[in-house]
Amino acid sequence: MRLLFIGDIVGSLGRGTLQRLLPELKRKYQPTFTVVNGENAAGGRGINLKIARKFFEWGVQGITLGNHTWDNKEIFDFIDEEKKMVRPANFPKGTPGLGYTFLKSNNKELAVINLQGRTFLPSIDCPFRKADEILQIIGNRTKYILVDFHGEATSEKLAMGWYLDGRVSAVVGTHTHVQTSDARILPKGTAYITDVGMVGSYDGILGMEKEAVIKKFITQLPVRFDVVEKGSSQLNAVVIQLSPETGQATQIEKIHIVEEVPSL
Ligand code: FE2
Repeated sequence: MRLLFIGDIVGSLGRGTLQRLLPELKRKYQPTFTVVNGENAAGGRGINLKIARKFFEWGVQGITLGNHTWDNKEIFDFIDEEKKMVRPANFPKGTPGLGYTFLKSNNKELAVINLQGRTFLPSIDCPFRKADEILQIIGNRTKYILVDFHGEATSEKLAMGWYLDGRVSAVVGTHTHVQTSDARILPKGTAYITDVGMVGSYDGILGMEKEAVIKKFITQLPVRFDVVEKGSSQLNAVVIQLSPETGQATQIEKIHIVEEVPSL
């Protein structure tokens, strides 16, 4: 049982990179499930139905989201029907969409839970208590459980990893877009990485045009950030091996690919 989790897909450059590299990644790693974070997929902010459908067409089985979930208004047209896409479960009660879901492949079932941190992010419900609540509901339904913890603070993500160690198969961090070097298996069998990293521009800043971001830091004036649409690109992901007996992780491998995309 193997999971391929691919970090935040940013804009058209990220989508193109995913489309180009996914077939080779699937051939090489033969994942039972492929899950991506898609919250930056539409122009860097949110996701729409067309893009979600493309991801599924390319062989993605599940999509997780984050703080940009509502940035593309089209999300409201399909989030309630899309059972393979999850938004943070600790958004306020009554929020559209699912916070966790079950994916099926090769007679196996994977629970995917999306949670969002609240350090340097909006003060939503407690992600730790929400994780407890969901794990209680999942019970023994499946031993394969993946958590995408979308957070800004490394400490909060580490806290979630340790809090869920032995209770879920993997806690993978997203949102900060830079792959961290701390991938490991925690003592009770949970695979962990603080941030998987992103898919999209290699020469921008977190996928955005670097000039605008630098200007913002220097001037502190309002600056519009645009996604980098061309140039070299990167794909960051992790492959996690899970024991069929216990659902615990036995291996986590980081993937970091940089490719030069010819300018149009
Ligand atoms: Fe985010």
